[in-house]
Amino acid sequence: MTEKHRGRQTKDGIRIYEEADFAGMHKAGQVSAQILDEVAELVFVGQTTAAIDAFIERRAGELGSTSATIGYKGYQHASCISVNHVVCHGIPGDKKLKDGDILNIDVTVIVDGWFGDTSRMYVAGKLGRKAERLIEITHDALFMGIEAVKPGNTFGDIGHAIQTFVEGHRMSVVRDFCGHGLGRVFHSPPNVLHYGRAGTGAVLEEGMFFTIEPMVNLGRPETKVLADDWTAVTRDKSLSAQFEHSIGVTATGFEIFTLSPAGKFHPTYG
Ligand code: MF3
Ligand code: CO
Ligand code: CO
Repeated sequence: MTEKHRGRQTKDGIRIYEEADFAGMHKAGQVSAQILDEVAELVFVGQTTAAIDAFIERRAGELGSTSATIGYKGYQHASCISVNHVVCHGIPGDKKLKDGDILNIDVTVIVDGWFGDTSRMYVAGKLGRKAERLIEITHDALFMGIEAVKPGNTFGDIGHAIQTFVEGHRMSVVRDFCGHGLGRVFHSPPNVLHYGRAGTGAVLEEGMFFTIEPMVNLGRPETKVLADDWTAVTRDKSLSAQFEHSIGVTATGFEIFTLSPAGKFHPTYG
């Protein structure tokens, strides 16, 4: 048996990690979060997403990590960069950012075998009012989900908290992509849905590691994947936003592994 198969699992196939494993996740999470802190300065009008990705790949190496996405199912970049109506899995390229573009940058690194996966929103130039509201609601939706994390609650409680908050603001939650277990692997059970009914789904236990990464659209929730087989966009071309943290369930609640070392996770536009 390899390392990644050792240890206890729930009947739903969710791995239960040990107390000592939290330190490994914290280290990996902090590297991914530091990269997202640093990248803020590289987001400006006229910049290409390929240049941002090149910086991320270089910094990942310098910080003692490897990119989890390069080579993952044929993906060739150190980040996903999803601009405006791109929901997720945007491929970095030579297109220049325009004034008012909003973008999600998603970075996953591996440190000592542990995965740190996080994403945030950025803006090039001047942020529009609708985009600002979308970003704010999406950020707060992630934290509504995180606050539902404690032993005894269910994954449905997380989805329900996110969905009711988002729909209460007349925006929609993407159904086609979800959060995921992670730890010694990139994607493992469970699927962490960002919608659902309270009290349903697997019960949270201390030692579970997973991401919460809601995608929120200003328009309808439907998405489609472009011919490149990666880029997911809103079908109605409406703006989409996303934030992602990697977290662990503790005895009394949660630990966020990917908190910003510089306190820059929340979009502040000052
Ligand atoms: N980081 C993404 C996630 O949140 C996965 C990206 S996979 C890639 O799960 F291949 F598109 F990079
Ligand atoms: Co993820
Ligand atoms: Co991610």
